[in-house]
Amino acid sequence: MAGAFLLLWVLSAAGCAQGGGGADPAATVLVFKHGKLSGDGAVVSELLREFEQRRPGVLVREELLPASSDRQHQYYAMNLDGGKAPFDLLAVDTIWVQEFAKAGWVAPLDDLLPQAERDEFFPGPIMAATFDHKLYAVPWYVDAGVLYYRRDLLDRHGIAPPATWPELVHAARVILDAEQDAELAGFVWQGKQYEGLICAALEVIRSHGTDLWTGDRGRAETGLQFLRDTISVHGITPLSTSMADEESTRRLFGDGRALFMRNWPYAWSLLERAGSPVRGKIGMAPLPSFAGHAAAPVLGGWLLAVPQHSPRREAARELIRFLTSPDAQRRIAVAIGYNPARRALYAEKSLLDIRPVLKDLYPIFLAARPRPVTPYYLMLSQSAQPEVSALVVGRKTARETLEAVRRHAERLAIDEGAPFVEAPL
Ligand code: GLC
Repeated sequence: MAGAFLLLWVLSAAGCAQGGGGADPAATVLVFKHGKLSGDGAVVSELLREFEQRRPGVLVREELLPASSDRQHQYYAMNLDGGKAPFDLLAVDTIWVQEFAKAGWVAPLDDLLPQAERDEFFPGPIMAATFDHKLYAVPWYVDAGVLYYRRDLLDRHGIAPPATWPELVHAARVILDAEQDAELAGFVWQGKQYEGLICAALEVIRSHGTDLWTGDRGRAETGLQFLRDTISVHGITPLSTSMADEESTRRLFGDGRALFMRNWPYAWSLLERAGSPVRGKIGMAPLPSFAGHAAAPVLGGWLLAVPQHSPRREAARELIRFLTSPDAQRRIAVAIGYNPARRALYAEKSLLDIRPVLKDLYPIFLAARPRPVTPYYLMLSQSAQPEVSALVVGRKTARETLEAVRRHAERLAIDEGAPFVEAPL
């Protein structure tokens, strides 16, 4: 019995180590770890098989982690610490690069992306990937918060996409009252206790000309209060939003059960694909702001990095070049709607013809602001998450929430002896 198990284990381990390309025992096997992408991830596998063909002797094994940024971070922090990571390249969230670089977990990649070529990328991800004047990750795809809306319903009621938060509330109230559809929510966003909640809260607070951890308190409190009020006062957001992440809101909106949704641009292709109940009925717009202030989409997105101690660093670096090339970024955008980090692609007519939404996204990506660019960001965010979550479910007032969030940040600055650097307004 035990022997049978051992045999099975040996067989499956050998099977895994072969990667996708064949059974060459002398091959270098590169393990590429990344979070599960939404939609059909086949395009990434195709690219990896192509790389293997160009680089005989190298096989790439793709290993997926759950989509959640927080859970991936946990995995990487555990596995990179100690210098024996069981993978050779990884996709990192914009918010981790400073931390990973400072800890010595990932290798500098300066020569992989010379300064002149860095200018071809959006500046935000490059800034997030630069620690102590060195580049530690190459931008793969870029994200920023956007507002999805049901164009058919807005049109039916003669209402334009809202430019301000009060306009959004008004539009939702008018349409919900008129439609009398108990299934229809007004505005859904990511309210679960996790990184996505911090993004949603930052966008509302920053669109009132201040910030969560620094800046005018009164305006930050109004921003936080607005989030809670969408549920408790305006009645446009279901309480279930307090448990929602990107995918659950995307499914709700995709089933035709929400009028407005805050989400990342990846959702567009899924909502517009054949058979989607909302296909042809939706629009995407910049997020609203408070009157007199600019919209403040948060910059997100993922980059590729190499663990400091990978013995297969050279091949991993080549794969990063390949996966972040204009061609690979173009194909990923077309196939699954994860948008290029390279700016030049947004001017390519042939790509815009296939994916016209890139034209609207370009100014949003340019304007998007990173979360605080600091090696302590995760601590900052994770100490804020339970506080903001308590506000969302009505257990703390906006004032108490903000006080607690800022108290944790001050404590952190003292403990670490390094006040975090706020991204410039
Ligand atoms: C998206 C963004 C990432 C962000 C995460 C939050 O994956 O690209 O930057 O941290 O959502 O849930």
